[in-house]
Amino acid sequence: MGFNRKSTAEQVTEGLDLTGKTIVITGINSGLGLESMRVLCLRGAHVIGLARTLEKAQQACDSVAGKTTPVACELSELASVKAAGESIRNMAMPIDVLITNAGIMAPNQLNHAHGLEMQFVTNHIGHFVLIQYLLEQVKEAEAGRIVILSSAAHTMAVKGGIDFENLDASRGYSPWRFYGQSKLANLLTARYMSDQLKGHGVTVNAVHPGIIQTNLARDAGGLLMTLMGLFAKPLEKTVEQGAATQCYVAVNPEAADTSGKYFSDCGVAKTSPAGRNDRLAKKLWQKSEALAADYLP
Ligand SMILES: NC(=O)c1ccc[n+]([C@@H]2O[C@H](COP(=O)([O-])OP(=O)(O)OC[C@H]3O[C@@H](n4cnc5c(N)ncnc54)[C@H](OP(=O)(O)O)[C@@H]3O)[C@@H](O)[C@H]2O)c1
Repeated sequence: MGFNRKSTAEQVTEGLDLTGKTIVITGINSGLGLESMRVLCLRGAHVIGLARTLEKAQQACDSVAGKTTPVACELSELASVKAAGESIRNMAMPIDVLITNAGIMAPNQLNHAHGLEMQFVTNHIGHFVLIQYLLEQVKEAEAGRIVILSSAAHTMAVKGGIDFENLDASRGYSPWRFYGQSKLANLLTARYMSDQLKGHGVTVNAVHPGIIQTNLARDAGGLLMTLMGLFAKPLEKTVEQGAATQCYVAVNPEAADTSGKYFSDCGVAKTSPAGRNDRLAKKLWQKSEALAADYLP
């Protein structure tokens, strides 16, 4: 009880014995994903760690103590996501926690995958497909939890939330608007799924981890980055603090019964109006199903 923005992932998991629990995490070779894997392994969990390539996943898994299984998953290539989903299905074990943590932020250059803007695919659609593959195993767990990394930047999405007419950015690209849109998509996915999974013993929540110096900003630039560099310093968290909220929502007993919420600093926080729009959440879900149809289980 009483965790806050200064709490670390080790503190929010202190005293917990996660032996026998299986936790799937994406983006484990860097930043918050790596720290989450380290700490959850330290508490005894078996972490199935996903990175773009098997080599990256293996290297990251080898860097932490505890039980890990590396899996390749390039989120912007849906065939790779499908293969990762199938290989975890073949492990035939319940999944206690799924943390969709990987992400890219505001690349200056517009890139595409599957004919869509890259952040929308990497941050949202790739995870959307992975979640579908693993959902049955999460339901098989005693009390499965899905934790979806969003961001306070979800407030930067276009007016109305998701610009369904411009998912390929052919009508204009703004790195931060598209980052905001992808992170709003993460938030709406958590909200929609939580509703759908009522009565199935599975919780789904979204997380804003804080502002943390990781590799995330490597392709971002522009005025906003300069301003953040100048003014956000006092708000910054360490990586150890940054991984706290996702670990808290993933395994702390205090969060066991909460679903459909958006967490920041280890507590429930308020979203933008679009983040609470259930009609938008449903529309996004249906659109995502249509876009990813060839790759869904
Ligand atoms: N740091 C912050 O201030 C902040 C604030 C709000 C939200 N978040 C969210 O927190 C999450 C973790 O970010 P972080 O700060 O830890 O960033 P990070 O250090 O850059 O880690 C991101 C991870 O995602 C992986 N990834 C990126 N694109 C991928 C793809 N196409 N396929 C598979 N994996 C991919 C990266 O792999 P590679 O190393 O191979 O690229 C890396 O492992 C993200 O979802 C981010 O949006 C972070």
